[in-house]
Amino acid sequence: MNDDLIRLAYVASAILFILCLKGLTHPRSAVRGNQLGALGMLIAVVATLFLKGLLSPLMIVLGIGIGGAIGGILAVRIQMTAMPQLVAIFNGFGGGASAFVAGAAVVNANDPAYTGEAGTSFWVATFLSCVIGAVTFTGSIIAFAKLQELMRKDVRFAGQQLVKIGLVVAVLAFGWWLAKGDPESALTVFWLLVALSGFLGIMVVVPIGGADMPVVIALLNSYSGLAAAASGFVVNNTVLIIAGSLVGASGLILTNIMCKAMNRSLGNVLFGTLEPAADGPSADDVYAGKVKASSPEEVAMLLETARKVVIVPGYGMAVAQCQHNVRDLANLLEAKGTEVDFAIHPVAGRMPGHMNVLLAEADIPYEKLKEMDEINTAFEQTDVTIVLGANDVVNPVARTDPNSAIAGMPILDVDKSRTVVVIKRSLSPGFAGIPNPLFAADNAVMLFGDGKKAMVDLVAAVKEG
Ligand code: TAP
Repeated sequence: MNDDLIRLAYVASAILFILCLKGLTHPRSAVRGNQLGALGMLIAVVATLFLKGLLSPLMIVLGIGIGGAIGGILAVRIQMTAMPQLVAIFNGFGGGASAFVAGAAVVNANDPAYTGEAGTSFWVATFLSCVIGAVTFTGSIIAFAKLQELMRKDVRFAGQQLVKIGLVVAVLAFGWWLAKGDPESALTVFWLLVALSGFLGIMVVVPIGGADMPVVIALLNSYSGLAAAASGFVVNNTVLIIAGSLVGASGLILTNIMCKAMNRSLGNVLFGTLEPAADGPSADDVYAGKVKASSPEEVAMLLETARKVVIVPGYGMAVAQCQHNVRDLANLLEAKGTEVDFAIHPVAGRMPGHMNVLLAEADIPYEKLKEMDEINTAFEQTDVTIVLGANDVVNPVARTDPNSAIAGMPILDVDKSRTVVVIKRSLSPGFAGIPNPLFAADNAVMLFGDGKKAMVDLVAAVKEG
């Protein structure tokens, strides 16, 4: 009876996970999708631990209570701009948990009640769970440290690729040893694998920096799913296999989307051969004597005569938290008969969908959010483009300089519009750390200042105009 109930619960969980992913494909349904996923996970956890009689109800409630409280506090307290770090650390926890499951399996390998028959598939799954889990754990910790700016330098040295290849060979050799299932040595081999894979995770992520980090986060997310799926095979748990596969597959799809948006091949990412940024022209070369500063009043005059305006939000809008002021400006302009659209670059901000979430929070209709391919054909007919705290995603160097750190990255072609207004505090570079010739272009003016103050002043100036 219990077995039937458990199977039924797992089917319900799997359906909820799939509905969750479906919901997450659109901002309007994302919150609901998230809730369905959480419900699916609750059902899966309770069915596994309670119906299988693995833990007492008190322990389950305590576990859910403590874990839920930590997750809840983190979710409420975390700044929107620090979300990628949070995702990185969550990926790491997932990978670490899978490695622990593998360890528990090794310890209990002789107990048929735990492992069924510990045959080749059991050992292969245990090996994968341990290795992918440990790589994900240490790789995610490094990604967290980099995004949190605890680790500011990218570590590169001669022979780094050889070290990585050596580690992979050693991991495979010990994996073969583990697969022999020798009870005497299994635990020692397991710990050696944890150490080697952990070191591999560090080696893979330490050289990667700058604009490539989002790809790494998406890839680690996928790894955490694959590690969980492998753990599912280790403990014979179908819902873990399903959930892990869904995370692994969706993470890979996201990685692919990110790669395209940043002009990186998946092979490049998988084999960790991302190149450092080449030295380009200095900021002085690019800007000296060419940048034109403007005022809110002057920009308001430009907007007054504009028939079509495009707003390009970037990381600076997230920092300034001025999405509500942006909405006020858009409403004001639309009330005067101006057409206003928002151009969304896939890697604007610091996480996938960052701009969509912020603009949705300010009740800006989804139909006004235009994706890169769609809006790029419209810039030539745009009178004024307002670039608000965006930098790399509008840097024309991506099109012109093959040696640049962002060479080949598809960008928003804002420079093709009649006039570009760039709102940011200074001429400081963006995430990729390179100057942006757009700021010195003939058709561009700078409105220097914090995004929020600039938008408030601009709204006031448009109202007065
Ligand atoms: P960035 O190129 O990082 O530029 C953001 C700009 O915002 C900065 O130049 C900064 O200039 C300005 N800014 C910061 N605080 C501001 C404030 N309070 N008010 C006004 N401006 C402010 O941003 P982007 O164009 O959105 O590009 C995103 C970059 O991040 C890409 O390189 C991307 O690869 C990378 N990245 C993306 C993700 C994802 S998945 N979205 C994840 C990690 C990294 P000032 O200091 O002069 O104000």
